[in-house]
Amino acid sequence: MDIKSKIFYKKYLPIDEFVEKILYDPHNGYYVKHNPFNKQGDYITSPNISPIFSEIVSIWIVSLWNKFGKPKKINIVELGPGNGEMTRILSRSLKKFLKINSFEIFLYEKSISLVKLQKKRIKDPCVKWINDFNKIKGGPVIFIGNEFFDAVPVKQFQKKDNVIKEKNLFLEANKIKNRYLKISKNLERYLNKFKTINSNKFFEFPLKGLKIMDIIIKVIKRFNGAILLIDYGYTIKSEKSSLQSVKNHKYNKLFSNLGDADISSLVNFKLLEEYFKSKKLKVNNIIDQGKFLKTLGIIERADILSNNMNFKDKADLYYRVKRLIHPKEMGSLFKVIQVFSHK
Ligand SMILES: C[S@@+](CC[C@H](N)C(=O)[O-])C[C@H]1O[C@@H](n2cnc3c(N)ncnc32)[C@H](O)[C@@H]1O
Repeated sequence: MDIKSKIFYKKYLPIDEFVEKILYDPHNGYYVKHNPFNKQGDYITSPNISPIFSEIVSIWIVSLWNKFGKPKKINIVELGPGNGEMTRILSRSLKKFLKINSFEIFLYEKSISLVKLQKKRIKDPCVKWINDFNKIKGGPVIFIGNEFFDAVPVKQFQKKDNVIKEKNLFLEANKIKNRYLKISKNLERYLNKFKTINSNKFFEFPLKGLKIMDIIIKVIKRFNGAILLIDYGYTIKSEKSSLQSVKNHKYNKLFSNLGDADISSLVNFKLLEEYFKSKKLKVNNIIDQGKFLKTLGIIERADILSNNMNFKDKADLYYRVKRLIHPKEMGSLFKVIQVFSHK
């Protein structure tokens, strides 16, 4: 049975259920069959562009540890660690600042094949895998996610005459079609609470992503902590679908190569900010990735690293740093949200 017929065993599928199956179906899902990272994969992420990215994130963690009053122990959770590259570098860098056994890194990963890859690449006693945040028994707990939120499927809605309907997909003569269907009163009430999307005729909503955040928030309220999310996204009103599919580093038609191409969406950062504030958390201004990395010293770090490099390696390092910080590359499209518990 092909993936399309298998997925549409029910007549209608909300967008997030459809994307979830395409990405994580246990036999045919994209993240089960493919290693998406780097040249031989479909896309490249910041930690894989240069280790300097994760070094800067480790500086952010150390400065936070300092603000928390230098606790004897901190727990770090990486959300959606992909091929594990960020944690590999974080662990190495943090050991330069923090005592052995004073931190643990927990990896929270949905794809079984990526967990296998991470376990192959990371042999470090301070790194552990979890699928339940309640297993964390103390804090402060620092959650970090690079390109995590964009990979958690979103729902899509239309609002007409104050009635909200959800976009659903169905299969007809082997073609994927869509139809907007009524939603429950409870869901409608919940969606109407968000000012960021209130005047939209069309909007995306990360219901699955926020359910994960709900659990994370309970942990950081209980033990003290923070959340750092870095992702591609927007901060102004948008009424367009942001779903995108990528294969071999090129855009792919959304419904082509199902199960063999990645599907993600842009993160609505203002909506995230509104959600975190509604939970009485402290949220710093959303900033561009370029500003975040520059403020924490990426250029100075590159200058130090380049001192002992030959010309070719130096050029390569600055080329990679430019990719991360330049407004026309990842510097502006990628945004950063930093959330703190109030304790
Ligand atoms: C775009 S990749 C980013 C990987 C990595 N953070 C990086 O920057 O290279 C998204 C990651 O999030 C994971 N992921 C997506 N949804 C998840 C969920 N609900 N729970 C745990 N991991 C998830 C994916 O399997 C993948 O590892």
